[in-house]
Amino acid sequence: MKHHPLLVANWKMYPSLADSLQLAQGIKKAIEDMHHVEVVLCPPTLIVPLVQEIVANHPLARLRLGVQNIHQLEDGPYTGEVSAGMAKHFASYAIVGHSERVKWFNETPNESNQKIHMILKNNLIPIICVGESNRNKNASAEAVKKLQALLKGVSRQDLEKIVVAYEPVWAISKGDSYHHDVATGDYVQNVAHAIRGVVGMHARVLYGGSTNADNLAEFLHQDDIDGALVGAASVNLKEFIKMCEIAAAIR
Ligand code: PGA
Repeated sequence: MKHHPLLVANWKMYPSLADSLQLAQGIKKAIEDMHHVEVVLCPPTLIVPLVQEIVANHPLARLRLGVQNIHQLEDGPYTGEVSAGMAKHFASYAIVGHSERVKWFNETPNESNQKIHMILKNNLIPIICVGESNRNKNASAEAVKKLQALLKGVSRQDLEKIVVAYEPVWAISKGDSYHHDVATGDYVQNVAHAIRGVVGMHARVLYGGSTNADNLAEFLHQDDIDGALVGAASVNLKEFIKMCEIAAAIR
């Protein structure tokens, strides 16, 4: 691992407003003393500005904010949507192509690709999610093919800034990161290595799918894994702080 480990907390639609503020305060306080980990909090969109106030109070370079989604266009008559230009005032990162957006909101590879261009244009860093639908021997080929479609037209220079989250769809939890089919370190490394071949050495490659404090180290020890995209476990303050400590201790 070349960078400090990066943990992205994808809060999805889990926490209430009160829970979100408590999480943000607790995480900020905990990582003040951890110098070897970077954390990106991705709260539900409405809550992002409030969490930003907490993060901006004594800002830490290793604690940033992200949004979970943006619309692919600049502006227009799109009820309920938020643009990258709006998000950039509050966040530094934007998740794109998450399998839940694909499954529940029919996001297409072409839309994800447009979103990536819009995110980069607004100087946000995309966290690009890819992964195979079912556990299988050709997982690398499937993930690489999806990634190549998503990265169409992205310059070599921009490739250096991006984050790719390898998330095997079958390993993503339904809300409890301790009761699920989890990938092994070897399996993940194999696909992450293929992804590395597409994005190069500078981009960061994360693993995501039912990560928790018990299995995180196994993934972070893989050569091509630079961190994790954490869902369910990231809204459990104690668990997530433990994960930050584990990541900070990895060299
Ligand atoms: P999970 O979610 O950790 O709850 O499996 C990961 C993700 O979907 O980003």
